[in-house]
Formats: sequence, C-alpha cells, structure tokens
Amino acid sequence: MDNERITAASANETEEAKERSLRPQYLDDFIGQSDVKNNLGIFIEAAKLRHEPLDHVLFYGPPGLGKTTLAGIIANELGVDIKVTSGPAIGRAGDLAAILTNLNDNDVLFIDEIHRLNRSVEEVLYSAMEDYALDIIIGKGPSARSIRLDIARFTLIGATTRAGSLSAPLRDRFGVLSKFEMYRPDELASIIRRSARLMQIDIDDDAVELIADCSRGTPRIANRLLKRIRDFSQVRGSGRVDKEAAEVGLNALGVDSLGLERLDREILSTIIERFNGGPVGIDTIAASIGEERVTIEDAYEPYLIQRGLLYRTQKGRMVTKLGYEHIGAVYPFGEEREQAFGDDQPTRSDKGKKKKRGIEDIDAQMKFL
Ligand SMILES: Nc1ncnc2c1ncn2[C@@H]1O[C@H](COP(=O)(O)OP(=O)(O)OP(=O)(O)O)[C@@H](O)[C@H]1O
Ligand SMILES: [Mg+2]
Repeated sequence: MDNERITAASANETEEAKERSLRPQYLDDFIGQSDVKNNLGIFIEAAKLRHEPLDHVLFYGPPGLGKTTLAGIIANELGVDIKVTSGPAIGRAGDLAAILTNLNDNDVLFIDEIHRLNRSVEEVLYSAMEDYALDIIIGKGPSARSIRLDIARFTLIGATTRAGSLSAPLRDRFGVLSKFEMYRPDELASIIRRSARLMQIDIDDDAVELIADCSRGTPRIANRLLKRIRDFSQVRGSGRVDKEAAEVGLNALGVDSLGLERLDREILSTIIERFNGGPVGIDTIAASIGEERVTIEDAYEPYLIQRGLLYRTQKGRMVTKLGYEHIGAVYPFGEEREQAFGDDQPTRSDKGKKKKRGIEDIDAQMKFL
C-alpha cells in the first residue's frame, strides 16, 4: 500500500522485526487504551482463577495502535504460548486444522487481518471457537461421513482494521470486542519516552512533545519518527534530540506541525481548489489525486477527520475552516456552513445515535465490556 510514507500507520517490510524489541511485554508497560486494558486485565485474572481459557477476543481499529502487541501481552499475562498467523496466510481449511490441532489447552491463537480469511476456513473456525471441535469429512460421494475431532480449549484473538468487513457469524462468536482508539498526545509522549529509553536516545521533553503531536495518534508512527529524527541529530548535531533537532528532522521528512504529509495536504487543497471545499464524493477525490479510494479511506481520511480538518457528510467530504487555515487558504464561507453539516459527523460521544456503517454497529456491542 502506501507504507513507504513516513507517516503511514501500517508497518513496512523491515519494520516488523525491529518493532518487536520495542513492544511492551506486560499490561503494566502498555500505555493508553485504558478501557480495553482495564477490562482485559479483569478477564485475564478471572480466566486464571477458574483455570479456563480466556474468552475469544476481537481487536479492531486503525493500524499501528498496538493490536498485535496487546495479543502478545495477553499470552504473557496468561502464561501460555501464542501462535501468530494471519487471515491471508491460512489458505485452506486444512491449514487451519493443522494449526488448531497443535495448540495446547488455554493457548492463544492470534489471527491478524482476520477479515481476510476465506469462507471455507472461516467455517472451520466456527465449531472450533464454539465447541473446541473440528468437523472433518472423510471420504467422497455417498460414503462420505463426518467425524468430530476434539481440539484444545484455546483462546482466539482476532485483529482487524476493518471490523465492518467481518461476517456476522464470526463476529458473534467473540465474547470480548475491543475497539482501539487513537492515542492522546500525552500517551504518545509516554510511549516516545519509553522507546527513547530502550534505544538509549537522549531526548528533551519539548522534542518529545513535538514528535507526539506529529504522530497521528499512532505509536508506530511515533517510534518511526523518533528513529529518523535520531538519525538527523546524530549526523548533523550532537546526537542529543532537542527541540531544534526535532524540528529540523520533521521538516526534512516533510511532516508538518499536525503530522500531515504531502498527500494529506494535497487531499485538502484539491477539495478546496477544484471542488470549492466540498462536499465531494470520495471516488472523485481519489480520481483527482490518483490514489485508490481504499487508501484514502483507510490511511488518510481518519486522521484528517480526527483532527477536525475534514468532515464526512452524506453528500461527500468537506474541508473545514480549520482545514482551510492549516494549508494557508482563505476560508470563503460563514459560520453557518459548518453548522449545517455538523450534525452528520459521527463523534465518539454520540454512540447511542443511529449509525450507518457496519463498524459502528460493533460500538453498540461494546457494552459487553
Ligand atoms: N500502548 C503501547 N505502548 C507502547 N508501545 C506501543 C503501544 N502500542 C503500540 N506500540 C508500539 O507500536 C508498534 C506497533 O504496534 P502493533 O504492531 O502492535 O500495532 P498493530 O495494531 O498490530 O498494527 P497493525 O494493524 O499494522 O498490525 C509496536 O512496535 C509497539 O512497540
Ligand atoms: Mg499487527
């Protein structure tokens, strides 16, 4: 996808391995996501007390927020083994059966990108999750018969960036549904300080804050910016990361004060210059800037919306007053423009209201937590 971008939330190829060393190992080291974390802490304790496997857990939310990290932590806290795989890696039902029959009681099976499991594999998962059993067909034609094979009592942890693409039967089999939110700047600052300590980077507080503000609410981006900025200060300065070094680094990387890069700003300026600030449909925007619609929807838009630079309305996307100001354009409308659209904007506080998209249906189920 677009993971060559410095502010891409998805991991690039060389990053996966390096990230492991920065991953917190236990709940106490995991910063932020306090709702998710506190509830899981209780469920983990309870499962341990009862000597039972933890209920199946679904993590959903944007990339780079710590889903894989937290899955590893759960296994550590439970004191069990974790087997890590992903939806696209499990091609056939037999592959999944092989994985499942190799698990021990209470073990964790982590399936990343679980929305990308194919249908026949998903069906095997249903009985595995519900009854800890596999239904296997032996033979062909009229003599074929089905036998039931017991497997270990395991915990499935599924992770997805697109909860709306998950089939209802699969979603319903998870006992715990946890939504990951973007991190607050103060939480990102703690994460940056922790990473700097682990990497033995000498960094000033105001540099930490600056990087936190540019990290798009995402720990993976925070860690990546920290590493690149350290490179700049080692090559050009004393090696110590102070505010000036951070500014120089961010500037050289093309990251602005809100963490936007060229394409983010291009989305805003295209809507302003060619579509009078919107509303304009996502497909039209995609065609105008030569990106794929899903890339804009998954990688760019959520953050622009979160920072209040872009509105998503029923009629299309619209740049806000703040968006105009951020790219230095004159806002040609009055206050009433945003008030008219404001009602369409889903916010965290109106969870009770009717939602249009699948992913938000899951919010309603969060009450289980
Ligand atoms: N709460 C946290 N505290 C400290 N570091 C974190 C936290 N969350 C994530 N990180 C760091 O961010 C990086 C990305 O986290 P992780 O790989 O778990 O994200 P993810 O949600 O699984 O992303 P993806 O959807 O791309 O798989 C890791 O290197 C980890 O060190
Ligand atoms: Mg992951």
